[in-house]
Amino acid sequence: MTRSAIIAMDGPAGAGKSSVARRLAGALGYTLLDTGALYRAIALACARARVSFSDAAGASAIAEDVVRRGALVIEPGEGSGMLVKLDGADVGDAIRTPEISMGASTVSAHPGVRAALLDLQRDFAKRGLARGVVAEGRDIGTVIFPDADLKIFLTASVERRAERRHSELSERGSQLSLEQTRDEVVARDKQDEGRAIAPLRRAPDAMLVDSSDLDLEAVFEQCLALARERLGDRA
Ligand code: DC
Repeated sequence: MTRSAIIAMDGPAGAGKSSVARRLAGALGYTLLDTGALYRAIALACARARVSFSDAAGASAIAEDVVRRGALVIEPGEGSGMLVKLDGADVGDAIRTPEISMGASTVSAHPGVRAALLDLQRDFAKRGLARGVVAEGRDIGTVIFPDADLKIFLTASVERRAERRHSELSERGSQLSLEQTRDEVVARDKQDEGRAIAPLRRAPDAMLVDSSDLDLEAVFEQCLALARERLGDRA
């Protein structure tokens, strides 16, 4: 029997992680684990409970409560995506607003929030391990799955990432300007890289992929080639 595999993909906002990870999962027949969606769901739960994102004790209590009640559920979704449910409802769209993006970045700096979400991520990967998991986020290769079979750190220049986020948000009807989007990307980078716990950082054994001058199709091909090279008959 061949062993199942974990591919860890980390990197900053707008580098193309979500679409590349999803395509990679589809091509390999693996399950996608989008860990950012969990922090986003906690930010949404805070917003609904009128708890400030920067309130460490309040946000941690919300995260613990939501997990203890089994109110935050993640499942494999359509087209190699991942479904996120909060209190029984699909919150896939509600967690993709700019407000929740910044909120997710803020709540993710609280140790209590990170601790509450740890088992959820590892359990999901175990369940998805029939064949393999592509897990994407900020601390997958460094904290969540330090023994991942393949680690990819996907990055790009701030300009390129802001452009990508901007077109993604515009498609969803957002009125945010490119400049405002760039400011959001820079602010999130600063928070995600600067926090004391599990900061965004490239694991020493992660392969660096720079998507500044590549379209996402080419990035996907590059990641697929890395997976085939590293995982052999498991890819
Ligand atoms: O990947 P994303 O944009 O959906 O993530 C939203 C925020 O969640 C991000 O700004 C930081 C946080 N996050 C994290 O701290 N650790 C992860 N593994 C994934 C996301």
